Amino acid sequence: MSLSHTLPFRTPALAPSILSCDLSAIASEVSQVLEAGSDIIHFDVMDNQFVPNLTFGPVVLQKLREAGVTAPIDVHLMVADVDRLLSDFIDAGATMISFHPHCSINPVNQLSIIKTSGCLAGLAINPDQPISVFEQYLPYCDFILLMSVFPGRSGQKFISSVLEKSKALRAIIKRSQKNILIEMDGGITQNTIAQAHQAGVDIFVMGNGIFTQKNLQDKNPYSAVTNTLRELLSN
Ligand code: DX5
Ligand code: ZN
Repeated sequence: MSLSHTLPFRTPALAPSILSCDLSAIASEVSQVLEAGSDIIHFDVMDNQFVPNLTFGPVVLQKLREAGVTAPIDVHLMVADVDRLLSDFIDAGATMISFHPHCSINPVNQLSIIKTSGCLAGLAINPDQPISVFEQYLPYCDFILLMSVFPGRSGQKFISSVLEKSKALRAIIKRSQKNILIEMDGGITQNTIAQAHQAGVDIFVMGNGIFTQKNLQDKNPYSAVTNTLRELLSN
């Protein structure tokens, strides 16, 4: 019931969050970070209920696909009513979808819908939620998104206690013999990515850690930061 097909990206994977990009030029920002060597586009959906912020709906995702983006798109649903919105993001072209389990009446059912659609299915866990909150759902997940900030906005400080949680989760996954990926989201920068990697993380979501680090002297403004991050992941 876990990951059974070939992953559509390499690991460790860099997943820039477009929440932090120049929103007046999303398509060009996306193509630049991908060309610089990122693997996945992280798409933060906030509904002004689960969190105060209001961001992107499925139409924006569909437009990225229509603009020719073929890279994996990772939809992180921070919405109060997962069960109502989920299928719209599948239809719009998501590659992987995660949601916060207490925002669904039946998380197992929603995880199954995601998997049946061919997308990778994940649960997102807040920094103050223990592993026990989602352990029962692990057999239905392809990945677990560990929040290393509280959901709501970019640019927050990394909560380092999540590193121990990641190590504990990695051990649980190993015991389960299932191929479940760990994704971490929030406050990941050049200062924190290596620690997250050592704690067993496979996918690194990065908002400000990439998009505020442009080097306008370079042909691709994200080449330098991407190369530095890759270097930190190779040690
Ligand atoms: C927070 C979002 C994150 C955020 C990451 O609610 O889920 O994806 O955009 O941004 P940084 O990396 O700046 O913390
Ligand atoms: Zn996110």
